[in-house]
Parts: sequence; structure tokens; C-alpha cells
Amino acid sequence: MTSSSNISSETTSAAARKKKRARSNSKATAKKASGKNTGDTGGALSYKVVAGAPADLKCDSLIVGVFTKGAMPTLTKRVDKASGGAISKLIKNGDHNGTVAHVATLYDLPDVNASRVVIVGLGAEDKLNDKRYQRASVAALKSVMKGGAKTAASTLCAVDYGKTSIGWRVRYGADAIANELYVFDELKESGRKKAKKKSGSAKGLESLDFVVGNARQLKAARTGLVHGLAIAEGTHLTRDLGNRPGNVCTPTYLGEQAQKLGKSHGLKVTVYDEERMRKLNMNTLLSVSAGSAEEARLIVMEYNGGRKGAQPVALVGKGITFDTGGISLKPGATMDEMKFDMCGAASVFGTMATIASMKLKLNVVGIVAAAENMPGGSATKPGDIIESMKGLTVEILNTDAEGRLVLCDTLTFTERFKPTAVVDMATLTGACVVALGSPATGLFANDQDLADELLDAGNQAGDRAWQMPLWDEYQSQLNSNFADLANIGGREAGAVTAACFLSRFAENYPWAHLDIAGTAWKRGAQKGATARPVRLLTQFLMSRAGLKS
Ligand code: BES
Ligand code: MN
Ligand code: ZN
Repeated sequence: MTSSSNISSETTSAAARKKKRARSNSKATAKKASGKNTGDTGGALSYKVVAGAPADLKCDSLIVGVFTKGAMPTLTKRVDKASGGAISKLIKNGDHNGTVAHVATLYDLPDVNASRVVIVGLGAEDKLNDKRYQRASVAALKSVMKGGAKTAASTLCAVDYGKTSIGWRVRYGADAIANELYVFDELKESGRKKAKKKSGSAKGLESLDFVVGNARQLKAARTGLVHGLAIAEGTHLTRDLGNRPGNVCTPTYLGEQAQKLGKSHGLKVTVYDEERMRKLNMNTLLSVSAGSAEEARLIVMEYNGGRKGAQPVALVGKGITFDTGGISLKPGATMDEMKFDMCGAASVFGTMATIASMKLKLNVVGIVAAAENMPGGSATKPGDIIESMKGLTVEILNTDAEGRLVLCDTLTFTERFKPTAVVDMATLTGACVVALGSPATGLFANDQDLADELLDAGNQAGDRAWQMPLWDEYQSQLNSNFADLANIGGREAGAVTAACFLSRFAENYPWAHLDIAGTAWKRGAQKGATARPVRLLTQFLMSRAGLKS
């Protein structure tokens, strides 16, 4: 094993090059399904912030909150007063006890301009938090839409709780509502009809106003709304890309979507094809796409909102557009979910869209390693040894541990941007799902300050991560008799050894790895992409840019 060209020739054979061709069938489907680039934020629904007496607001439905215990929220009190105590009476009569998300509606109240007042429970005043605020907001919205309202206004954002600001509450509320309205039906007849009519998912609701208590809060609330809608846009994009099936969302398709995003959001986009990657010696990445008829892509999206020449933060995403396991073929049950194996990449797309729409003052480079992992005559086999771009040789003992193979070369490639920090995100291991389930993303880092920043960001944004060890003791599980390291580390601590593998290629910068295998999509009846960790990443980048909302 002396000549590196010997090893890498595995992936440079003429045969490997010839087999790649466009599959016309899947291409046609892709075209039909790619009408939208960025996710919408509720179709025809438009949002704004207003100040003033809520009882004077002209709209179909006015949303106010009530507590189980504690004083009536200020704006609710104003509506109550104007109407001669209609809301107090409702509570006194036992028709509303303030339980979180419980909804009651009053019609044609005297001296209230809105035709309906939708009263939603917020629980106990001292227990109000983001989750409860979200549940109440969504419940009220659903009731408003059910009632057929075209115009609505909500005073819920004016209810102060915990350490929140008006900006935060508008941002969080707008994000929550826009994501509640998200549907993925572009490949159903109903969705195609809607797309033709350009009508959205808001069921006739055309406008939603966030009502603040006084005019001094308008500016912060408007900033919060801009941020909330930017996050909604990014999360919708991430969910759309994640939900699109493997025959539509191929590496080539992701490259095209990056170009589109670049045009719409002012990003500099470069897409590397296999030939260019081969010249860069990205052999472990290419070893994953070797068995597929779909060519791999390395996608670079640069957002330059910061000082000219300032070093960027790098976001790196695993973009396996379908993971069959390759020659180490996966079992059939729920294999369809491996279309979500590009959710790390989708999160890079979504976060780039969000920060560009926010005009964040920071330089950020998003890098996506896109490939399809298939068995086939030219596929990589267990036992094959590949020389990585970094020069370390890897013995591939299981072709289903492919995420780390596309990421390791991408982490080496990332060095050229001289990043201040690199955060990769990947649906990397089933072991992480076993360890943490769906509440927490697994976090690994070679730099505790970076780890703390990300943990804080996740806590703030309600998109939490939990730190796992990256201790030296685990590294020996990757020892190989034949190469510098093996691509799997045995049955124990699978999420940790996967991170350990990556850490060998991330020695030259502060680096963190997010294993989102348990968090990136929901299983079962609610099956679908969640857009995690877009909110965590956005919060992290906002903090780095010194921005608050
Ligand atoms: N994409 C999978 C990880 C995965 C599996 C995420 C199930 C979510 C649900 C990854 O490429 C993979 O197959 N990992 C293997 C690694 C093993 C071969 C060491 C796994 O977790 O089984
Ligand atoms: Mn796999
Ligand atoms: Zn995978």
C-alpha cells in the first residue's frame, strides 16, 4: 500500500465514469415537482405588526389570551372593558377556565370592532413558557381558520412571560404559526391544484396582525417578525427538500436548488461534479456514489454579510439523497425513510436561506456533500481501502457507514475557507437514535467553547442538543489491520465512534458535529422532515453576529 494513486484508482476507472448517466424518468418527475424553490410561509397569508386599542381593530377574528390563575393579560382586559365585561362573564360562568390551548369564541361583542373574539387559554400566568405560548397560538389559529376568517389579529404576543422580549414573542409566534400551516402536498392531486391556483395552506385566511401593547414596541416587534418569517422560510425549504423523494431529490437536483437559492438570495454558489472532485482526491466521498447511476455533487454556498475578508463560519451537511446501505444492504422495513438521509444538507440550505433573508452581518459558507448510496457492479465493497483527500487510508468494513465517508473529505475540503468554526450536521447513526431518541440532537465537539455556544443556542431556540463524549479512549475502536482507520467501530457507542472518525479530519479548526438521526424527521403517522437543527444554527449564527430578537 505505497502508491496512493493505486488506491484511489478504485474510483477513477473509466468504467466508473461511463456508468453515470442521466435517468430520464426520474428527471421528468423532478421537473414537475420542482416548481417551488423556497417553501412558502402559509401561501397567500400576509403578516404584519400593529399597535393600538385591540377593541378598535377591524377584523374577522381577534385573538386574546386568558390565564387559569393570575390577572387578565393587559390587552384582554381592554377588550373585556370595551365589551362591558363579556370575557369576565365567560370565565365567571365557567365557560373558560384558562387551560392551555382551550378555545372559546364570542360573537358581535358591543364596542368591539372584530366580528369574533377568540379566547384562548394560556394556563397559569407564572407557568407560561415558549411551548405553552406556541400551543395556545396554534390552537387559536386553527379555530380562527375553522371559523372561515379572512382577517385575524392576535394579542398573544403582548403577553409578557419569563425572560422574553416582544421581539422574541413575535418571532417565535410567527415561526410557530407559519410552520403549523406547512403542508407537503406538491405530489398529491390536491397540492398540484393549489399550486396552479397559487392558493396556500391558510384556508382562506389572508392576513394575520400581531398586536403589540404600545407604539414603542413596534420597532422590536417588526424586527421579530422579519426574523420569524426568515426562519419560517428556511425551515419550509428544509422540510420541502427533506420530504421530496429520492427519485426527485438527487445530488444533481440539490446542486440545481443551490444555484436557484444563490440567485434568489445573493449567495455565491459553486457546484463540483465528480470529475472535479476526483481532481481534488475526494476519494472517500466518491467511493459512496460509486455504485449509483446518480453522480455525486459537492455544493458550496457562500453568504458574505460580514466584513470583507473576515473568516467565515462553515456549515457542513450530509446529503445522502438515498441510503440503501450499499453492498452492506439495509433491511427493507422503513427503508423509505432513508430519503431523509440528506436532512443535514437540507438544514444547510434552510439556514443559508434564513440568514440571507435576515441580512445577518456575518460570513457563512454552507457546504453540502451530496451522493446516493447504492449497491451495484461498481459499488465499493466491504474490505476495500480508499485513500481520503487528507491522505489517511480508510478500510471500508461496512458500506452503510457512508455518511462519515462523504463528510471526512468534505471536512478536509472545508479547510480552504479558513473557517473560525465548522459545524457539521448529519443523520449519521442509528445508535444516536437509541441513545437520545427524538428530543435531543447529539452534539460532539473538539472545542468546549463552541460546544457551549451551540448548546446555549439550542436551549434558546427550543431546538435542543445534548453533548456526548469525544474521548480518546474511543478512538482505538477504529483501528484497522490494513489501513489508517476503519470506517466502523463495532457495536458499542456507535454514535461516539462515528464522531471520533470525523474528528480525525477536523483537527485544524474548532469543530462540532450534530448527529440529527433522531431529530431530523418524524416517524409514524406524522412522518416528515422537522427542519431540525435550522433553529439552533440560526440562533448560533445570530449570536455570533451580535443580533437579538
Ligand atoms: N443514515 C444512516 C443512519 C440512520 C439510520 C439514521 C437509521 C436514522 C435512522 C447511516 O448511514 C447508517 O446507516 N449508519 C449505520 C452505521 C453502522 C453501519 C456503523 C447505522 O447506524 O446502523
Ligand atoms: Mn448508511
Ligand atoms: Zn446514511
